[in-house]
Amino acid sequence: MPQWTKEQEEAIYQSGSNILVAAAAGSGKTAVLVERIIQKLLNKETPVDIDQLLVVTFTNAAAQEMRNRIGEALEEALAADPGSNHLKKQISLLQHASISTLHSFCMELVRKYAYRLDIDPSFRIADEVEADMIRQDVLEQLFEEWYGLEEDAEQEAFFQVVDRFSNDRNDLEIEGLILTLYEFSIQHPNPDLWLEQLAETYAVEETTDESTLTWLTILKKEVARQLEVMEMQITQALELTKEADGPYHYAEALDSDKEMIQQAKGAIALSWQEARAVFTNGKFKALSRKKVECSEDKKDQVKAFRDDLKKGGIRLPLIGLVEIYLSTLLI
Ligand SMILES: Nc1ncnc2c1ncn2[C@@H]1O[C@H](COP(=O)(O)OP(=O)(O)OP(=O)(O)O)[C@@H](O)[C@H]1O
Ligand SMILES: [Mg+2]
Repeated sequence: MPQWTKEQEEAIYQSGSNILVAAAAGSGKTAVLVERIIQKLLNKETPVDIDQLLVVTFTNAAAQEMRNRIGEALEEALAADPGSNHLKKQISLLQHASISTLHSFCMELVRKYAYRLDIDPSFRIADEVEADMIRQDVLEQLFEEWYGLEEDAEQEAFFQVVDRFSNDRNDLEIEGLILTLYEFSIQHPNPDLWLEQLAETYAVEETTDESTLTWLTILKKEVARQLEVMEMQITQALELTKEADGPYHYAEALDSDKEMIQQAKGAIALSWQEARAVFTNGKFKALSRKKVECSEDKKDQVKAFRDDLKKGGIRLPLIGLVEIYLSTLLI
């Protein structure tokens, strides 16, 4: 019997409340849990039978380990108190005790009460491939139904979503999105409620104060961060133009870039609308075509950087995303 630490003792004997034990690998969690069970079985005042307890683990191996360890501890206790009928009973009950994986416990429960759930008690768990196919079938049916709806506001809303999140050829992207959302939602004890709350988060009215939109605040922060990086990069490119053999004739365009980015940074701190104005009106100045004596290498570097900037653009990917969403609502 190890000399338990103070924390371990607490985890073993604490009662009357839920407890959560988190500790490093190999630090004695299973040992503590086994001891907790043993102490409940040995308790003279309120003796418990092992088949009154439910012990669940994540893997079969862990369940087996629990059962073995409880068995060993019971044998030890019986060796110390050979006359105890209670202990003998526990050893005989052990094989039928509910010590299993969470999954097999649930399976057993559902099978036992299949009649109350109105499902076939001979059900089996679908494998991943089968489950995928069923999901796909359901999705297809659902889409067919929606496409076939009468033209009303609901169908219009459906089309808007499909248009935004899929390409011209097929609906694969939106289907993927729906499945991801489904996977996420079923991790929640009340998936429907979770989905409804999710929708509420994005309900933007004309009168909504944008500072109350948590997700917009997060996006604004991210956009500000990206702008910060761009500004640093422009500053670096500007340094290049200032070197002795640098393409100094590019400095003017870069200065203008920098100004635009700084403006955008200022605007995003104010409001999305302000930022939007800068993003839509901001123009890139053309690089000077003047022929000057300078390092070709440095010239190419600045050019390549400028091309990147224009491609990724002042319209950063995130901005595009929020734009699509807000365009119909805020503006
Ligand atoms: N206070 C202690 N004194 C001495 N040995 C201990 C003590 N606590 C646990 N041990 C021993 O440490 C070893 C590892 O314990 P255990 O398997 O319970 O850890 P665990 O946290 O469940 O590990 P894992 O993260 O791998 O599941 C066991 O042999 C156990 O008996
Ligand atoms: Mg363990």
